[in-house]
Amino acid sequence: MSADPGFTPTQLAARAAYLLRGNDLGTMTSAAPRLYPHMWSWDAAFVAVGLAPLSVERAVVELDTLLDAQWRNGMIPHIVFAGGVDGYFPGPDRWACSALAAAAPASPRTSGITQPPVHAIAVQRILDHSRRHGRSTRAVAEEFLDRRWTDLVRWHRWLAEARDPKQSGRLTLYHGWESGMDNSPRWDASYANVVAGPVPAYRREDTAVVLDPTQRPTDGEYDRYLWLLEEMKLARYDDAELVSTMSFAVEDVFVSAIFSLACEVLATIGEEHAAPRSDVRELHEWAARFRGGVVATADPRSGAARDFDLRTGRWIGTETLAMFAPLLCGGLDRESERALLRIFEGPRFCGHPDLRYAVPPSTSPVSGDFRPREYWRGPVWPVMTWLFSWVFARRGWAERSLHLRSEGLRQASDGSFAEYYEPFTGEPLGSMQQSWTAASVLDWLG
Ligand code: GLC
Repeated sequence: MSADPGFTPTQLAARAAYLLRGNDLGTMTSAAPRLYPHMWSWDAAFVAVGLAPLSVERAVVELDTLLDAQWRNGMIPHIVFAGGVDGYFPGPDRWACSALAAAAPASPRTSGITQPPVHAIAVQRILDHSRRHGRSTRAVAEEFLDRRWTDLVRWHRWLAEARDPKQSGRLTLYHGWESGMDNSPRWDASYANVVAGPVPAYRREDTAVVLDPTQRPTDGEYDRYLWLLEEMKLARYDDAELVSTMSFAVEDVFVSAIFSLACEVLATIGEEHAAPRSDVRELHEWAARFRGGVVATADPRSGAARDFDLRTGRWIGTETLAMFAPLLCGGLDRESERALLRIFEGPRFCGHPDLRYAVPPSTSPVSGDFRPREYWRGPVWPVMTWLFSWVFARRGWAERSLHLRSEGLRQASDGSFAEYYEPFTGEPLGSMQQSWTAASVLDWLG
């Protein structure tokens, strides 16, 4: 592999900090300047991870802004719309949440679906960084935790109850966007089953920003995405209604693993900060239930996990990041876990001989589903590299974690902070100046 003449770590950190400053709208950081001019839920958590080494205070503001948009039922919505900013479709009028959903806040305006629950990780990083500072910064972090503990637990309770009503230990999603991996091949069969009814006329904004359409989902995919919105609106975003009315309903193993992990992280935070014992106990229970739910989907030989389509009753096995879900939450027996790590590091993923950097592509290059430039169908997403590197460190796999970090930093040293990268050429794709890419770099270099 060639040496990369890119920016030095110091230059790169400075540029990443400058980028976040540039994307700062005041009390929220846009996910990206043009393509995503609002706050996205899991982006906000990763952004807070990147802000924490720069300013604990500013990282707290980011999470406060997100939590101010929490719905009364506990859901954290996937988008919090910035006031007075257009340029994104579907925008708040299309979602019409405050008009239709009993649980939605009147303000700020939000979307009506959710995204992966990585927020406890951000809280953990804020607390970690606050300890390196004096008393006043530590107090900001502690005070945040006291103020928001109940909201964080409410968020987790909503997921555990509204999104796992049968207690299978797996979260149900009603839109591929809820997975954060919008057009992943994981959802192809389920979307193929969605018969799109009449969708009110619309014009996409994303393809006006990213001009190469091969880097974005297709129009056919968009019709189905928007039809699901109409179905939700008919159900007035009512949790109980969605269970039976949505034509897309999948148990997402990756989000379930993130949830198990996040429950464990939050439980530990709670223990260290004298949170109510009943909350901590419940968080541990959810962590265990979802760990069990994830592991139950895994192939006993390879350890690879699968999603489940509730509408067709079929398992969804894909060679995507989802198969590695058990590495996030643990619970596999030793042999299966080692087998799964071998796949992660082997020629089907990070060890593929033609990869520019040894980081996990969203879909395996040897899979028939692989498209090297198309969004979640193949490209490398730096923030996913960060997630695995953070989890591997937590799980005691220091060397693996450091390897992902150094390869991730080599990739980022081009300074574009792209949303995703072509795995073989390293070409930056999608949106440039993506906040969570900068945040990942800042945490790695912090
Ligand atoms: C895309 C991604 C999603 C992300 C959002 C904002 O929709 O698929 O995961 O949250 O962009 O960056």
